[in-house]
Amino acid sequence: MYKIVEKLEWGPFATFIPNKHEPVYDWFYYKEGFSKQLVFNVLDMFGANGLVLDPFCGVGTTLVACKQRGIDSLGFDVSPIAVFVSNVKLREYDPDELFQAIKRLMKIKFVKKECDVSSFVKKAFSKYVLDDIFVFRDAIMRFEDEKIRDFLLLGLMNAAMKCSYVIKDGSVLRIKKKPVPPLRKMLRRTLMKMLHDVKTFETTEAKAEARIGDARMLDMEDESVDAVITSPPYLNKIEYTRVYSIETELFFKHMKTTAIRSAIGLDTTADFLVNKDLPPIARAYFKDMDMVIHELYRVCKQGAKVAIVVGNGCFPDGVVESDIILSEIAESVGFAVDRIIVLNKRWCTKQRTKKIGITRESMIVLTK
Ligand SMILES: C[S@@+](CC[C@H](N)C(=O)[O-])C[C@H]1O[C@@H](n2cnc3c(N)ncnc32)[C@H](O)[C@@H]1O
Repeated sequence: MYKIVEKLEWGPFATFIPNKHEPVYDWFYYKEGFSKQLVFNVLDMFGANGLVLDPFCGVGTTLVACKQRGIDSLGFDVSPIAVFVSNVKLREYDPDELFQAIKRLMKIKFVKKECDVSSFVKKAFSKYVLDDIFVFRDAIMRFEDEKIRDFLLLGLMNAAMKCSYVIKDGSVLRIKKKPVPPLRKMLRRTLMKMLHDVKTFETTEAKAEARIGDARMLDMEDESVDAVITSPPYLNKIEYTRVYSIETELFFKHMKTTAIRSAIGLDTTADFLVNKDLPPIARAYFKDMDMVIHELYRVCKQGAKVAIVVGNGCFPDGVVESDIILSEIAESVGFAVDRIIVLNKRWCTKQRTKKIGITRESMIVLTK
């Protein structure tokens, strides 16, 4: 019923991996993210200008890419870490000021501090690394300039995780003791690399900002957006919070955050789409996504283009075609479904071996 086309050559860009060696984009590894090239491809496809919205902005890939292209953008995410990382990437810096700040920080003398942390965090680091994290964290908090403070804090967050025993394995954190470099050395290297990126990164003065917010209730005016480029949490891959629990405990516990439900699809009592024979978790997901798509319709201008990257769900009873169901929802809300672009195809298996269908990762392209 919908026009489905394959562009498997775009598939790798639906993951964060190509961003891993991209200046600025690589300031924080976000497994759930997509790559800048996907955003560039969509901007070219849409011929976008005006205001681009990403209501699930994660660590700001859409926003940074739009800024590079001279296009204004706005992002929302429920995760304070994601919003923090996005904004550190988006700000403009004076490299000399940053260099002075890094020099000042690296001169800090070690003083033993007692800090209360969970037993899991204690297991995640050697005693020496953890002691150093506290010393540098306190020193960074004493920097008066918020922009500089946040830049240094992101560097510390990265360096700390590189000096940890943690292995991020899907949505699980595993601890594996191994030799780790001294934190001070890693921090200096990380911050100098970030400074080098600031000096060489080609960007523009286009406006870009990430805000804490819920995609189901956007704090935005009606008909204010020219294009949307986004990727919501995927069906049955919706647990984000645990993967970043160490960063949250060490670097964000002291920060005030707005408490909102942290994911899409948690209310499994939802009776939405009851006539579709879907597992409760899928019903909950589509109920929330229905709210999101209504919001997108409200904030989009007439003629606005929307690209939503989603993955189908793999359940014991078969594949749930999120791309088709979300297209149906979008159509019922008033969008025209231009096409579904298939980016990746994978086997959905039962008990790891029995193939029960193919799951697609797709980009749904809509016009208001
Ligand atoms: C697939 S990731 C998007 C990653 C992003 N494209 C990037 O490159 O970094 C989905 C994001 O949605 C966020 N999220 C989950 N529920 C949300 C909600 N109700 N409103 C806004 N953001 C939400 C998660 O914190 C996560 O960062």
